[in-house]
Amino acid sequence: MKIQEDTIQQSYSNALKRKKDNSQSSCCPPQTQSQSCCPSSTTSELIEPISFGCMYLKSILMDYIEQGMTVIDLGSGAGHDLMIAAELVGPNGKAIGVDFTDDMIKEASENAQKNNLSNVTLVKANIRDIPLPDNSADVIISNCVINLALDKTQVFKEVFRLLKQGGIMIDADVIATEPLRREIKENPSLWCGCIGGALTKAEHEKILNEIGFTNVIIKLGEKDDVQFNVPELAIESGLILAQKPDE
Ligand SMILES: C[S@@+](CC[C@H](N)C(=O)[O-])C[C@H]1O[C@@H](n2cnc3c(N)ncnc32)[C@H](O)[C@@H]1O
Repeated sequence: MKIQEDTIQQSYSNALKRKKDNSQSSCCPPQTQSQSCCPSSTTSELIEPISFGCMYLKSILMDYIEQGMTVIDLGSGAGHDLMIAAELVGPNGKAIGVDFTDDMIKEASENAQKNNLSNVTLVKANIRDIPLPDNSADVIISNCVINLALDKTQVFKEVFRLLKQGGIMIDADVIATEPLRREIKENPSLWCGCIGGALTKAEHEKILNEIGFTNVIIKLGEKDDVQFNVPELAIESGLILAQKPDE
């Protein structure tokens, strides 16, 4: 069965409504309710948006994001990591969220307003074709999104295009610890639940190296930060770091 992008959009629109009604989270499909998926994290004074991510990124973001930087969050959802990035870049920096689901864009805009973060911009776009200029971001972040993309190579090419020289990609995502079976890949519910589209570590390395990224580091199963682990389906959260070369 072919996975459709409008199915993914609808799934996340519904997931936001469900989470706001305080029931099941987005990236826990019915088949995998045993996983400890997407509990919300605690962050400073921020009024904290709902997280749909697969890893707590705050401490990693604090290591890489500095005042005055431009940060782009791919698949920013309700704005959980985007708000953290906006706080870290400060009033002279920019935090730009990109998402293709209307309800998520609206929710993240409202969350930026509630937090008085005037340095946040939301762009409604597909992450395979982002209407932002080349070489414009110091850091690109993404949390539990690229696995959902139908053409992941194209998304990583967009990341490369958008990053400034020396810029860093911080991508928390679901990683398959062995190649996924066809019936898992072709199940729309598992795809929308961040499982069916997961790449292996080796697949990530191949794509990123071929595009020209350097310093590619992929860490699986980061202890307390992991929000997603489904051993029976051979997937777990991972952190993918990569850099656009400096010259
Ligand atoms: C699992 S949620 C993660 C949201 C957010 N990163 C977080 O950690 O809370 C996936 C998000 O990616 C968005 N998304 C999925 N595929 C996308 C695409 N191809 N282009 C733009 N946004 C996409 C969905 O609309 C949804 O908001």
